[in-house]
Amino acid sequence: MPQFDFTDEEALSILTFLKGQTGETPPPEYRAGTNPVQAAVLKGERLVFWNGCRNCHVVENRGGKIRDLYNDENVTFAPPVLSGEGAKVQPAWLFAFLKSPTTLRPWLSVRMPTFHFTDADATALVHYFAASSNKSFPYLTAQAQQLAGARAKEADQLFKDLQCINCHVVGELRPGQDPGSAAPNLLLAKDRLRPDWIVPWLKNPQALLDGTRMPSFWDFSDEAHPTSPSKLFNGDAKQQIDALRDYLMHLELKATPTKTASVTPRRG
Ligand code: HEC
Ligand code: HEC
Repeated sequence: MPQFDFTDEEALSILTFLKGQTGETPPPEYRAGTNPVQAAVLKGERLVFWNGCRNCHVVENRGGKIRDLYNDENVTFAPPVLSGEGAKVQPAWLFAFLKSPTTLRPWLSVRMPTFHFTDADATALVHYFAASSNKSFPYLTAQAQQLAGARAKEADQLFKDLQCINCHVVGELRPGQDPGSAAPNLLLAKDRLRPDWIVPWLKNPQALLDGTRMPSFWDFSDEAHPTSPSKLFNGDAKQQIDALRDYLMHLELKATPTKTASVTPRRG
């Protein structure tokens, strides 16, 4: 449990809040038991409150005052915004992350603390995020088409042409790549991200995460006629984005055949 050093005033407002929680007629949106989604949100709100998540994060559009310490240029160094987190990540990934946080953004100097949640509390938080985003919980088949043939080749070329790995790590840092400006490891995507989140993210990252370093490659200002910097997939922005989603959801490190294999002398 983190140490909060509340001022008297803060302690008083928490006390008032908690008294409100035990009142006999809580506001309808907080009345547990009527609807499983509302119950999940209520339970999760308590965990978010008690663990001080909003000291660092904007959670479902509230909290995260810490962001005020970062100006526009360095807002990318603030802890990530967690509004819509349930639409972004797979429940199983989130559960594992809450139990044992790993580094996603090596450029941050703040770290996600380990809270030593019980399985029940970690599950309640996962349910909270899914419910807040109206997303399925707990099971999910992260479906994305397996690319094959010409489509696979074209997707691979697109990924190269758009130079995603100028920023993104795939597996491990490239020799000489600065960890301070690297972007998340895309090998994590298949276990971490909901495939249907990748599409709006690629279309307009700024709309989902204000101030992110992730660029927009396509121009969707005319939704019916988006433009693309690439001629692949007939220059069709939507097809390109769908292909990249499928590509990322199946991305694996290609095994490079070892030289020795081809020169091993045959014995017989
Ligand atoms: C001391 C600040 C701090 C506190 C308190 C904190 N976090 Fe975090 N959290 C971080 C940082 C920093 C990251 C980014 C880690 C990274 O990207 O390497 C993070 C990442 C996350 C992520 C992953 C976001 C993503 O990219 O998908 C989730 C989910 C999360 N936190 C949930 C929580 C919850 C729930 C709580 C409260 C129980 C909490 N955090 C409390 C700092 C904090
Ligand atoms: C200029 C650097 C840069 C380039 C180029 C770039 N990205 Fe990103 N991308 C980022 C950053 C930074 C983030 C992390 C945003 C955040 O803090 O959540 C990100 C996040 C992502 C994520 C979410 C990853 C996760 O696990 O949270 C995906 C998926 C992604 N980018 C795909 C792509 C693809 C595909 C391309 C090429 C078409 C690309 N990016 C090009 C900087 C970049």
